[in-house]
Amino acid sequence: MRLSKKIRGIKPSPIRKFFKYTEAAKRAGKKLYFLNIGQPDVKTPAVFMEAIRNDLREIVEYGPSAGSPELIEAVRDYYRRYGMDFSQDEVLITCGGSEALRFVIDCICDDGDEIIVPEPFYTNYGAFVRASGGVIVPLTTRAEEGYRYADRDALERLVTPRTKALLLTNPGNPTGVVLTRDEMERIGAFARENDLFIISDEVYREFVYDNKAMSGFGQIADIADRTVIIDSVSKRFSACGARIGVALSKNKDLMENLLKLAQSRLCAPTLDQVGAAALYRLPPDYFDAVRAEFERRRNAVCEELSKIDGAVFTKPPGAFYIMVKLPVDDAEEFLLWLLENFDDEGESVMFTPAEDFYATEGLGRSEIRIAYVLNERDLRRATELIRLALSAWRGTLADASRRVGTG
Ligand SMILES: Cc1ncc(COP(=O)(O)O)c(C=O)c1O
Repeated sequence: MRLSKKIRGIKPSPIRKFFKYTEAAKRAGKKLYFLNIGQPDVKTPAVFMEAIRNDLREIVEYGPSAGSPELIEAVRDYYRRYGMDFSQDEVLITCGGSEALRFVIDCICDDGDEIIVPEPFYTNYGAFVRASGGVIVPLTTRAEEGYRYADRDALERLVTPRTKALLLTNPGNPTGVVLTRDEMERIGAFARENDLFIISDEVYREFVYDNKAMSGFGQIADIADRTVIIDSVSKRFSACGARIGVALSKNKDLMENLLKLAQSRLCAPTLDQVGAAALYRLPPDYFDAVRAEFERRRNAVCEELSKIDGAVFTKPPGAFYIMVKLPVDDAEEFLLWLLENFDDEGESVMFTPAEDFYATEGLGRSEIRIAYVLNERDLRRATELIRLALSAWRGTLADASRRVGTG
């Protein structure tokens, strides 16, 4: 018996592979600050559970494959706020943004087809594209340039006859980069000239800081037929376990074919859709306090990181992640050493080494991703622990090289 090459080619999630080390650290009595998973600590708005509690149905039946009409209407109203008018059949409700991504990529990719993705990227894109038989073609971005990627020449160099789409996260995970309108138009023109889809993963849409308004690809009219927006309640409403996402597009052919995949899995969770409709109907000012809290956290992390000699980062304009290049050769080795050997007053810290966010072999080895999902005091302490661990690690390396020198 043999499993498929597709599945063998998929790497395990880098976010979860350190589990056994964190468990061992906890067993050793260390208190760990977790900066590794994008699970916000914000309370899920009460309307979610209230709507489910008030639901009077006696049978939790299957719903329509495209999603419940109530949720679709709530999503359409939310999008109208941003000047985007989607008809009912241009909205598909999915089991999380993850399923929306999988379905869209499956609809677009034949074996060997290429999707351009700025790297570092959300690691699950690797799994989705591989599983569809496609190939990720990375557009490499650099810490020193704030990970920006709307570079026409760089994009041109990557296009081949097999290129089908650009897959972008805006605001970015793991970089926090937010595209400007000008950058989006540049990318849109490039997609039009090369006849590509734009898959715009906008699950962090409401997390844009410094009083800047977020604009999305859905607002650019002349690429409407090639744009697919991926949306989700997970981060926006701190409802990661609700497993409700959305794919939106004005491309009728794509939407009709997405529906076939949706029909094959019958429907998204019925009760979660009831709760999600209430979330999408929250007034826009719901986000003010959440956004202000994450902005404070971002500022606190940046302030603490600036105390680390040799750390390279730029203040991210959006999402709740920051990439940092540390003065180490191998961030994974540093993390494993830290989990096993380091604590300060019984406390230690967990972050994500960033190598797996890159498709290009060898890149990102010195980088880490921090998810600033803890309260400000804990975040400051967690970042301080990274700084203290780095000093201790340097001391260990210096001792080792002295021993080699004298031995
Ligand atoms: C960029 C990005 N897209 C999609 C997802 C998937 O979210 P969901 O929980 O909606 O499946 C995540 C989750 O972390 C993400 O970071």
